[in-house]
Amino acid sequence: MDWKTLDDLDLKDKLVLVRVDINVPVEAGRVTDATRIEKIVPTIKDILKAGGKPILLAHFGRPKGEVVPEMSLRVTLPALEAALGQKVSFAEDCVGVPAKKAVAAMQPGDVLLLENTRFHAGEEKNDPGLAAGMAALGNVYVNDAFSAAHRAHASTEGIAHLMPSGAGRLMEAELKALNAALGQPQHPVVAVVGGAKVSTKLDLLGNLVKKVDHLIIGGGMANTFLVAKGVDVGKSLAERDMADTAREILKKADAAGCRIHLPIDVVIAREFREGAPSETVAADACPADAMILDAGPKTVAAIGKVFEDSRTLIWNGPLGAFEIAPFDKATNAAARKAADLTKAGALVSVAGGGDTVAALNKAGVADDFSFISTAGGAFLEWMEGKELPGVVALES
Ligand code: 3PG
Repeated sequence: MDWKTLDDLDLKDKLVLVRVDINVPVEAGRVTDATRIEKIVPTIKDILKAGGKPILLAHFGRPKGEVVPEMSLRVTLPALEAALGQKVSFAEDCVGVPAKKAVAAMQPGDVLLLENTRFHAGEEKNDPGLAAGMAALGNVYVNDAFSAAHRAHASTEGIAHLMPSGAGRLMEAELKALNAALGQPQHPVVAVVGGAKVSTKLDLLGNLVKKVDHLIIGGGMANTFLVAKGVDVGKSLAERDMADTAREILKKADAAGCRIHLPIDVVIAREFREGAPSETVAADACPADAMILDAGPKTVAAIGKVFEDSRTLIWNGPLGAFEIAPFDKATNAAARKAADLTKAGALVSVAGGGDTVAALNKAGVADDFSFISTAGGAFLEWMEGKELPGVVALES
């Protein structure tokens, strides 16, 4: 680990500013998935144990520098209190008098949550004044928000330069897992990249072919690659104008010694709806009036074989239209295979990125992977090989 962690920081009797990511889904005023909240509990508890007073900094939604009442972090308080098993106090602003008063009122053992940092225009501009205003509230800065570390904002980057800083437990776990998957992994490494579009994952594919031994392409993206190879995919979702780019990626992979795996067989249907009549055909036999909605059983078996021969797996994106049955079969089966190999100690498996976590949860295997990242955009940027400003800014 190249960065300081809670173990390297003096927290006793310190006011500890902790940047967390509790940008969680909310419906009708209630948190519907508290995963991100639950994941920050170890950091907060460890700070309390070490005699520090945790002051939580966070964003919620994209209010663009305005105070938007529906984007108040107050809505997260019940879930935060339930996860921590204690009361959490709240300040109406993340700087200025309300924040100072709330900090001054803190007793040992207390936890304080400050209002949405993005209510200030200076947050996204990484304004030094705002960073200084937040830094003035505490003695130490801990960043536990890997999933917001791709943003160079005042509360994720600027503030880290103004005081002693380090990584929280979740950030530490994310960095360790991601390093094990792509930094210094055990080879052979296999990456699964799925999802709708090649165009949104160009940098990611370009970086991966240099680093992994096998690249399994699934979802709508695979159709674009099939088109690039001259295959007619009927009415399937495909970016036909990206065929040249896909060919470039195939060439790069070849030069780097990375084997690209495309579907061998596919599940097709004529309608995109739950339970639509479907059949399995060879990947180059999609009828003109049908669309590819999932990978077929031969493809799943081939993926399983690649998993068996690999030591490390990194997964981003589903293999098919996993939201609707029966087009979730390939994703579920491949995920189960990865989970079984992981449980047997044969594979280190790391997954992340929006849809991926939903797909693995749906497959019921999320707990059996070595690590599931809470990050969406940050996970993708990291897979692209980019440096994340919120990580770089921490003290090494
Ligand atoms: C996320 O939900 O991925 C993070 O909280 C970052 O949010 P953002 O994309 O609005 O910066």
